[in-house]
Amino acid sequence: MTAQLIDGKTISADLLDRVENGVKIRLDAGKRAPCLAVILVGNNPASEVYVRNKKRSCEKVGITSVAHDLPATTTEAELLALIDQLNARDDVDGILVQLPLPEHIASETVIERIAPHKDVDGFHPYNMGRLLVKMPLMRPCTPRGVMIMLEHTGINVKGMNAVVIGQSNIVGRPMALELLMERATVTICHSQTRDLPARVRDADLVVAAVGIPHFVKGDWIKPGAVVIDVGINRLDNGKLAGDVDFDAARERASWITPVPGGVGLMTVATLLQNTLDAANRNA
Ligand code: GUN
Repeated sequence: MTAQLIDGKTISADLLDRVENGVKIRLDAGKRAPCLAVILVGNNPASEVYVRNKKRSCEKVGITSVAHDLPATTTEAELLALIDQLNARDDVDGILVQLPLPEHIASETVIERIAPHKDVDGFHPYNMGRLLVKMPLMRPCTPRGVMIMLEHTGINVKGMNAVVIGQSNIVGRPMALELLMERATVTICHSQTRDLPARVRDADLVVAAVGIPHFVKGDWIKPGAVVIDVGINRLDNGKLAGDVDFDAARERASWITPVPGGVGLMTVATLLQNTLDAANRNA
């Protein structure tokens, strides 16, 4: 079997069209454009690329983005004071603090300071808790983007054995909760999991979010399984690679996401959807 591709380009373009349309509906109703504040501290090259993409995508769909590029020497108190100001502004719908932050700033403290209704990343414990009890408000972008991809492709996860590899707050944990909400049987695997290949071999759906190129081998994949690759890893030759050995896995899976051109594109599109949703709830 050669898997069909779950094409992030088409699905994210479709989502961006829907967001753009949602922005137009607001403007036609005499409301202002949604507004996203993007905070970048320091000059991590990867973060700079991500933030640039987020700002560009905002422009494309008519969302206003306000950049706060702060020096690496910014103190935690200064960052918290900026968040307090943005929380208080009626014309700011979403606040995004790009991670990772410099080591002298505690990201947990910063995330908790963002007003939950402006937390477009969905990382605040309030939003995580709402996802846990099946009352989602702001849903973390990457897992929400994966669910949109599955839905768009017509893949119903109900009753599937789903294995999520990775237990991060950004992807693994909320991904597991999203799949559980759709009534998959979910296993979260991580660096201490015993016999990971055996776990994966039992999975109808695999989500790889480990950050190690080609970590998941083709012969771990159960024939006919759905493979979602969240990894975006830069190889020494400059090329991007996912967490899954794509060429080998493709020969066994029924559906697979490519890297690049897969989940990564969905993350930004979903952020914009979250920003629009926040604006529509706020005003
Ligand atoms: N760093 C890596 N992924 C993300 C993300 O989804 N949001 C933010 N704010 N920072 C990140």
